[in-house]
Amino acid sequence: MTTNDPSTHPSASTVRVVDLIRKKRDGNELSRTEIEALIQGYTRGEIPDYQVSAWLMAAVIRGLTRSETAVLTDAMLRSGVVLDLSEFSPRKVDKHSTGGVGDKTSLVLAPVVAAGGLLVPMISGRGLGHTGGTLDKLESIPGFHVNLTLSEFRRVLRACGCCMIGQTAEIAPADRKLYALRDVTATVESPYLICASIMSKKLAEGIDALVLDVKTGSGAFMKKEEDAVFLADLMFETGERMGKKVVALITDMDQPLGLKIGNSLEVAEVLEILHGEGPPDLRELCLELAAWMFLVGGAVSSLAEGKRTALQIIDSGRALAKFREMVQLQSGDLSALDHPTQLPRAKHTHQIVSPENGYVAAIDCEAMGTACVVLGGGRDKKEDAVDPSVGIVLHKKIGDPVSAREPLATIHYNSEPRAERAKQLIHESYHIAGAAPTGPRPLVRRVIPSSGGKN
Ligand code: URA
Repeated sequence: MTTNDPSTHPSASTVRVVDLIRKKRDGNELSRTEIEALIQGYTRGEIPDYQVSAWLMAAVIRGLTRSETAVLTDAMLRSGVVLDLSEFSPRKVDKHSTGGVGDKTSLVLAPVVAAGGLLVPMISGRGLGHTGGTLDKLESIPGFHVNLTLSEFRRVLRACGCCMIGQTAEIAPADRKLYALRDVTATVESPYLICASIMSKKLAEGIDALVLDVKTGSGAFMKKEEDAVFLADLMFETGERMGKKVVALITDMDQPLGLKIGNSLEVAEVLEILHGEGPPDLRELCLELAAWMFLVGGAVSSLAEGKRTALQIIDSGRALAKFREMVQLQSGDLSALDHPTQLPRAKHTHQIVSPENGYVAAIDCEAMGTACVVLGGGRDKKEDAVDPSVGIVLHKKIGDPVSAREPLATIHYNSEPRAERAKQLIHESYHIAGAAPTGPRPLVRRVIPSSGGKN
């Protein structure tokens, strides 16, 4: 483990923050010294939130250059500990998603890839806005601990090859502070700031290779494919510059992934996949991402071999066994995995039915994610508690035929007023038309670089 000595960084006192704000406001490029002073000064509490907020807003509006993005990522990465996992001989691989609705792939990928012989040190996040978070899903398994110390993290990794925890105070503390500030100052939606935030945390994990799942569509932060591609390119470049093998997949988030949205419902769907069942789109994306993790981790020599390996690991029960091992090591209750009816369950359910005959032409995926937050499955404010039992089960997805009064979705809820608002959002999010939408709906829209990182 290496810690950076703060005394080697330029002090905020040598730079006037107001000049940095003005410089970015006017569209000029900041130097390495200036960016480092800003990040180190803010992390140490020497620069107030209001000045950093102003700088962040200037950065969102003016953008950052490639060089500024690289320096910002590096400064955020070096604001804390960079894990050294060189004591472990397998290659270390992780996957990160930019956030979606019903996206529970991490819970499948960690055990599949660890069962395939690679090390998966996964540091994940909580739900953000309308999107779900891996830590909230894991915590719906009774007893499961996500707040491990770094030495406990190593112990679990050593014992079973994968471990899933939350960001600790030691890992990229600058991002923790900046992220909380961005969340409340409308400065999240900048590809440069998102790149620095994600890559600083991921590079601090001590990994060799990273698969990025960059979501695009109505349920993603990047609604337009070209914006997702821009972000993917930035993150790819940043990772490669730091000597990591990186590949980014641009994947569809025009509708929720799988059929279940909400923390314990999603764990139940993960178990279906680990049992070799589950919805085809979720299964396909899990196999695709696992194959890329095997490929960038050097465990296989082709994507096809990676998919075969992942499939075989699931079908043989090794992935489920690995998941049980990890859950037990992180104090989770195995009986809830063996009997998913023991996972937290909401008191009530209600079916939302189609108002007419037709086909599902589109789903407003962000509204669907918001409906889950409204039910209590996500947070309005950072300090809000999440209800693990609530959520939505979809019966119809894009392209499906539907008759009048046929169920589109079932909500699982504990509070009538919350359920009323969620019903309205779900009704509004389904667009029923006279004809099925035409054209292919590829789950993986593009891979960056187009060579898949083989060059
Ligand atoms: N996820 C992150 O970790 N950071 C961002 O800025 C956006 C999504």
